[in-house]
Amino acid sequence: MNGMKMISALNIEKNFDKLEVLKGVSLEVFKGEVVAVIGPSGSGKSTFLRCLNRLEMIDGGSITIEGDELVSTTAEGKVAYAEESQARMICRRMGMVFQQFNLFPHLTVLENVIEAPLTVKGVKKDEIIPVAKELLGKVGLLDKLDCYPSRLSGGQKQRVAIARALAMNPDIMLFDEPTSALDPELTGEVLKAMRQLAEEHMTMIVVTHEMSFAREVANRVIFMDKGEIVEQGDPEAVFGDPKQQRTQAFLNHMSAK
Ligand SMILES: Nc1ncnc2c1ncn2[C@@H]1O[C@H](COP(=O)(O)OP(=O)(O)O)[C@@H](O)[C@H]1O
Ligand SMILES: [Mg+2]
Repeated sequence: MNGMKMISALNIEKNFDKLEVLKGVSLEVFKGEVVAVIGPSGSGKSTFLRCLNRLEMIDGGSITIEGDELVSTTAEGKVAYAEESQARMICRRMGMVFQQFNLFPHLTVLENVIEAPLTVKGVKKDEIIPVAKELLGKVGLLDKLDCYPSRLSGGQKQRVAIARALAMNPDIMLFDEPTSALDPELTGEVLKAMRQLAEEHMTMIVVTHEMSFAREVANRVIFMDKGEIVEQGDPEAVFGDPKQQRTQAFLNHMSAK
């Protein structure tokens, strides 16, 4: 780690009506770090990721990305977001990969990957096509450039989704259970692409149920439960010697599966 702070999320609060989903979650992520977020369903993992890139608006706390403030909260509790163009510019530094791929069904693999750079960033087509091909090559899909998503396996779709996020040249990648919708035999190819990205020192937050991936690839593991970070630390410490009873119970439950 060279110490550059990529994400600083402090005391994030998020409610859906009366439901307190995030109860003051704080997380700082440094350049090149791979942070795995684990925890039971409904603990607020997805909501937390979605707050980071403004897919959800927070009700309290502050988020700073690479030194630029996306949102902050005054002492009186007033939440203030950066103005729209600044907020968009900040959020564009984060690529996100979802459980349900979300590819455009009417576009080919190559078209899916170049769509956002063309329309959002205004990059020229002849500039982005070689980049897209390189990224699709990295995830092992060069032979699928002209296929439509309906012709791909789940693992292939997810690898397209990863290439698509990378085509925007993000500084940070957020993964929300990228292998949870896949048949077990297809998770490996997606995890491999993510592992490769980690080896290239991409800064990543990965919400995952893949405990062995978290243990081997992450620099830090966060255990969330009921809207809070209950425990965090080095993967060997969290998996090998969890301190909190809730972490122990969750890990026992996962390994019994
Ligand atoms: N858009 C929403 N509207 C209302 N409740 C939501 C919404 N999104 C998530 N929730 C609720 O917030 C809680 C946390 O959800 P989520 O962040 O998806 O948890 P996780 O990703 O850890 O499974 C759950 O109780 C969920 O039902
Ligand atoms: Mg989730």
